[in-house]
Amino acid sequence: MCGIVGYISKNANPESLHLGIEALKRLEYRGYDSAGFAFWDERKREIVSQKAVGKITSLEQKIDPRNSFFANPLILHTRWATHGGVTEKNAHPHCDCKRNIWVVHNGIIENFKILKARLEKEGHKFTSETDTEVIAHLIEKFFDGDLEEAVRKSLGYLEGTYGLAIICRDDPRKIVAARLSSPLLIGLGKDQYLVASDPSAVIAHTRKVVYLEDGEIASISPEKFVIYKEKKPEDIEWSQEQYEKAGYAHFMLKEIMEQPETLEDAMRGRLIIEEGTARLGGLQSVEKKLRQVDKIYLVACGTARHAALVGEYMIEECAGIVTKTDAASEFRYRKPILDRNSVVLAISQSGETADTLAALREAKARGILTLGITNVVGSSQARETDAGVYTRAGPEIAVASTKAFTSQLAVLALFALFLGRQRQLPLTTGESIAKELQRIPALARRILENSAHIRELAKKYQGFENFLYLGRKYNYPIAREGAHKIKETAYVHAEGCRGGEPKHCELALISENFPSICLAPNDSVYDKMISNIEEIKARKGPVIAIATEGNQDIKNLADDVIYVPETIEILAPILNIIPLQLFAYHVAVLRGCEIDFPRNLAKSVTVE
Ligand code: F6R
Repeated sequence: MCGIVGYISKNANPESLHLGIEALKRLEYRGYDSAGFAFWDERKREIVSQKAVGKITSLEQKIDPRNSFFANPLILHTRWATHGGVTEKNAHPHCDCKRNIWVVHNGIIENFKILKARLEKEGHKFTSETDTEVIAHLIEKFFDGDLEEAVRKSLGYLEGTYGLAIICRDDPRKIVAARLSSPLLIGLGKDQYLVASDPSAVIAHTRKVVYLEDGEIASISPEKFVIYKEKKPEDIEWSQEQYEKAGYAHFMLKEIMEQPETLEDAMRGRLIIEEGTARLGGLQSVEKKLRQVDKIYLVACGTARHAALVGEYMIEECAGIVTKTDAASEFRYRKPILDRNSVVLAISQSGETADTLAALREAKARGILTLGITNVVGSSQARETDAGVYTRAGPEIAVASTKAFTSQLAVLALFALFLGRQRQLPLTTGESIAKELQRIPALARRILENSAHIRELAKKYQGFENFLYLGRKYNYPIAREGAHKIKETAYVHAEGCRGGEPKHCELALISENFPSICLAPNDSVYDKMISNIEEIKARKGPVIAIATEGNQDIKNLADDVIYVPETIEILAPILNIIPLQLFAYHVAVLRGCEIDFPRNLAKSVTVE
């Protein structure tokens, strides 16, 4: 979490602070409880710093428009608090005792208490409760005129994770950047360099970036940058327009509406209808190995974990391979049973989720083949896995994941199809799944075109404080994801359960004030779901059913019905989640919630 930006230019100019702030705003999704900056003012030859609690606009409001600054170099930070409350003192940048060294940091320094105690003994005075401040004081301890050297010495003492950008009054013509398990890149602009946590911050200025690897330190001056390893610049895949709201009120709504296109992109060129299979270029190098695989471990967090749960059903059904899903945060601590024919597949939109990366590293350390499904090209996950598939959903800015989720489902369906056809899945079955996959984007479009009704339902149900989401088989993870969406966007309590479970517990909660959203498409468990809905109705619980177009009977049972187009059972989750995303979005809007940046959350959770 947290976003960091650095800026240094050949030509100092009064626009640089504004440029840095605009770049930082692109990273606001990574954390938004406080923000700050520090820069060397080339004209006044002094360090200027400002911090504010709240979003970046609060920081902007503190800048006196009558002052003109020649900020060069400049570092900025948007925070998601880990150590120390949300206060101005704890906001970054942090500095040393002499206000000489200024640091912005994304990550966690796990041994900061020991370091802080030692530094305090040596006379250093701390002003914040953060782990980050120890970095500034450590560098101060080693600084004798050469910032880079002092940073290098200090990093040796740190345990934990960091993306860092550091400036120094007494060595002012450089930014020193360093990375360990927190993403960091250098954008190569015209006569200027930017340092950032991800490409969205630099895209307005350059498409050429160099990603820092773990353990690397970069020294960036106006004329050149030096990383202690030769590196070839790479192109950023996404365009600047993709980072805009394009007329929508919120990124979340834009991203929901983009799904027909993002689903098409996820599948483009990957389906081979006549062979009833999928071609996944990123897995070519491991195709042979995949034939031997007899166990697949899916690891992911949050929404991506719900995609994994659907993937588990898909892979077991199509390929007959034992598949297990685990929360990445648990995987490394539970001693998973893996052998040389096991595969660990990580799923992550950002490719930077600390728990997911830790699970991958655990698998690697045990010599297990690691695969990844991610959205972000060049992300840590993409670099660290043996092979993988990109979801191609384009930048997802809203904290609540929507289009990345459906793209993950589409890629998992392709993967399951591919594994199935490597094994016993008959050509005809493969062919019909492949053909149906091709129809999915158009069906998604149909749901979105007829979605006005969902807004009306949101109005009717916005006042409830609790929801039960129910689904069976493929739709159980969708019930979980529907609940997840409304919790994180509308701050409404919700539970996602297997349709058969409430009679063992949750029915105790049901009353007129506790509505249920029941996924009941025409599938192999339809009759069972209907019985479960009856059980809720018998206890006076209001029910919204998600049902297949044409099902008139269900109207006699449910209070409200949202229809989705018919598709095959294995692909139904891709469609069924869309109305639940919209429902959560509209309830959140009606309840006045901050849609794209829900309280206490961040998009990229880069701490464990
Ligand atoms: C989704 C959400 C989170 C993320 C989770 C994993 O709406 O808010 O639960 O899904 O943090 O993120 P990635 O997919 O980037 O690993």
